[in-house]
Amino acid sequence: MNSLPATADSPAGTTDPALRLVGIHKNFGGVVAIKRFDLEVMPGEIVALVGDNGAGKSTLIKIISGLYQPSEGEIWLNGEPAKFRDASDARAKGVEVVYQDLALVQDQPVYMNMFLGRELTKGPLRILDRKKMARQTQELVDTLDVRIPSARATLSDLSGGQRQGVAICRATHWASGLVLLDEPTAALGVAETAKVEETIAKLRERGAAVLIVSHNMEQVFRLADRVAVLRRGTQVGVKKLADTSHNELVAMITGLQS
Ligand SMILES: Nc1ncnc2c1ncn2[C@@H]1O[C@H](COP(=O)(O)OP(=O)(O)OP(=O)(O)O)[C@@H](O)[C@H]1O
Ligand SMILES: [Mg+2]
Repeated sequence: MNSLPATADSPAGTTDPALRLVGIHKNFGGVVAIKRFDLEVMPGEIVALVGDNGAGKSTLIKIISGLYQPSEGEIWLNGEPAKFRDASDARAKGVEVVYQDLALVQDQPVYMNMFLGRELTKGPLRILDRKKMARQTQELVDTLDVRIPSARATLSDLSGGQRQGVAICRATHWASGLVLLDEPTAALGVAETAKVEETIAKLRERGAAVLIVSHNMEQVFRLADRVAVLRRGTQVGVKKLADTSHNELVAMITGLQS
């Protein structure tokens, strides 16, 4: 059973993966961080990336988001080979990433954060079109059901969960299909985590492909369709969550039999 949306123009089974990694390898000097990593993420699918500290999860996210160049291997987006010069090139090609430390501007309103670096302007003097940005932001937070007081609220007045919701909204707004999340709820409490998980599930409903790094096994089981396990840079398996167990994943992560 897969959860791909079968639509008239893209029946399930004929759709290209939103993301395909082929033989990705990365070394930092003598340290091999990622060894020949392969993975596909389909539109409308959430894949979790798990592994111990230092396993290479963030390195992989940074490669897919253009921050690092792979030493070897290929990245394909929607059936086309992609090569990223840097992070803004990857963004321009539809890859958005939400880091744990957010990269939001605390003393600016939500709508300015939403359009950071891509502000809408009007007229020949290119004056900021605050009204339009606020309206579009409000529509987006409403669609994704992220409850914030207003698109005009200052970011520092929001809770951690609301801020993470804004970061995920921003990624959704700009991504054309692929959203990468590196530990998006690590700093959040239970209620805020639940809210952020709802937002992530909505991304899947909208047909986005989501790759999420998480240390939280319960979260992985709640949220993801499949899970890829990294151990010291090597992919030790990809499983459907429906076909695995907590114990099996822990054994794969640690390399110890449970
Ligand atoms: N810029 C870098 N230069 C040198 N080594 C690096 C660099 N970035 C990561 N590494 C090394 O690559 C390996 C993988 O690190 P990475 O941050 O990807 O792990 P991780 O799985 O995200 O761990 P954590 O769960 O602790 O966040 C580690 O051995 C780390 O020291
Ligand atoms: Mg990490």
